[in-house]
Amino acid sequence: MPPQNPVTVVDHPLVQHKLTLMRRRETPTADFRRLLREISLLLAYEVLRDLPLTTETIETPLATIEAPLLRGKKLCLVSILRAGNGILDGMLDLVPSARVGHIGLYRDPETLQPVEYYYKVPDALASREIVVVDPMLATGNSAVAAVARLKRDDARKIRFVCLLAAPEGIEAFTRDHPDVPVFTAAVDDHLNDHGYIVPGLGDAGDRVYGTK
Ligand code: URA
Repeated sequence: MPPQNPVTVVDHPLVQHKLTLMRRRETPTADFRRLLREISLLLAYEVLRDLPLTTETIETPLATIEAPLLRGKKLCLVSILRAGNGILDGMLDLVPSARVGHIGLYRDPETLQPVEYYYKVPDALASREIVVVDPMLATGNSAVAAVARLKRDDARKIRFVCLLAAPEGIEAFTRDHPDVPVFTAAVDDHLNDHGYIVPGLGDAGDRVYGTK
């Protein structure tokens, strides 16, 4: 039986401090973007702490040793467009050799269901560790659809990372993907009638790219 997905709240003081700065209404776009990049690097450190290792014989200037290195195919980061790209940048700072996929989804105004408009991912998903990123796990619809799409392409070892989660989003995601662990910097109070996380930080995409 696959492991049930634990929700890990990354409560490192630096993560929590930066998150508070990001939540502030008056934080300008440039600061918001930089903070998201910094916080994503810190989240990645926690999310990837159990990556499999191998060893290789190397020579230091003083001795020959068996030293640890990441094992297996390159890690794959998958961004849910467009706000996911804000997290991607910080994670790539930490793992520059990672492969990157993008998934674009919009919400059909009639059915309110996510519809795919873009999908491009690296090959051999089945043998890669995959990290799906989106800053806000709100209704959970996009995250659920994105992970389902990756599973249809044989992805097996998937983790989901966000900045903020609503209890409603966690419940929806956990119901559909109990095998995918979730990492977040905070679980907020609730979703409002427009699907925004409260207290939240507003529209993550608009705040990263200054489009409001
Ligand atoms: N997407 C956002 O950008 N913000 C929310 O609060 C919910 C979904």
